[in-house]
Amino acid sequence: MRTQLDPDSIAGAKRITTQTLREMKKDGIPVSMLTAYDYTSARILDAAGVDVILVGDSASNVMAGHETTLPITLDHMIYHAQCVVRAVSRALVIVDLPFGSYQGDSKKALQSAIRVMKEAGVHGVKLEGGMAVEPSISRIVEAGIPVMGHLGLTPQSIYKFGTYRVRARDESEAETLKSDAAKLQEIGCFSMVLEKIPAELATQVSASLEIPTIGIGAGAGCDGQVLVTHDALGLTTDFNPRFVRRYARLAEIMHDAVTAYIADVRSRSFPSDEESY
Ligand code: KIV
Repeated sequence: MRTQLDPDSIAGAKRITTQTLREMKKDGIPVSMLTAYDYTSARILDAAGVDVILVGDSASNVMAGHETTLPITLDHMIYHAQCVVRAVSRALVIVDLPFGSYQGDSKKALQSAIRVMKEAGVHGVKLEGGMAVEPSISRIVEAGIPVMGHLGLTPQSIYKFGTYRVRARDESEAETLKSDAAKLQEIGCFSMVLEKIPAELATQVSASLEIPTIGIGAGAGCDGQVLVTHDALGLTTDFNPRFVRRYARLAEIMHDAVTAYIADVRSRSFPSDEESY
């Protein structure tokens, strides 16, 4: 018989697995997920006890400064994932397959997934899209690689949508999303992100599935939540959608620290005798 999980046993878990997430959903324990792209940040997130670390293709925005997630390559994602994996001992580490590495060719999708698993040592991959990428997801799952789906606003399709506004507000898109979610579970996804959809729809989808949903801009009815760490910590200042809660204002703290450093260098008060040999 399975013993009931409690939040303390999750906090002390040696390693979060896809199975842990499923059990968390059964036991009503929300899953916390944040993004990381480098060793130092991933260490802090892991030590704080975040359940899932996503090496998101949002690295294209917050690391590389691109306007969209489209330019980032598989090699870039593997590099970021390697840095993160070196830092993590508890969290489940999932990496986004980037635009162009899985769409339209399931064989190529599998090769991309195998590369990130082998070269970075992550625990699974995330792919954007519903039925259009079903052959790719099925092939990766059949090879034994855990796949997290991603429905709703899928930023790799931004030029198709033409806007970052809330998705699936109308009946027909909501119905498509519901059937895509059911299908993703059926073909073996272990979880899925629901991005920027009405809270009521996300609640219904979450209740209809056995696998956990992780929401971003999708309300409190999801089985877990994800934010881009740079947004949550206030390192980004020019991106202010209503779904972002700022837990710190690190951009201001860094700005003040750098200003103080410059002043100390100019005034020759740094380094002091104690800081010299
Ligand atoms: O790339 C990313 O950071 C993501 C999250 C926003 C879910 O896909």
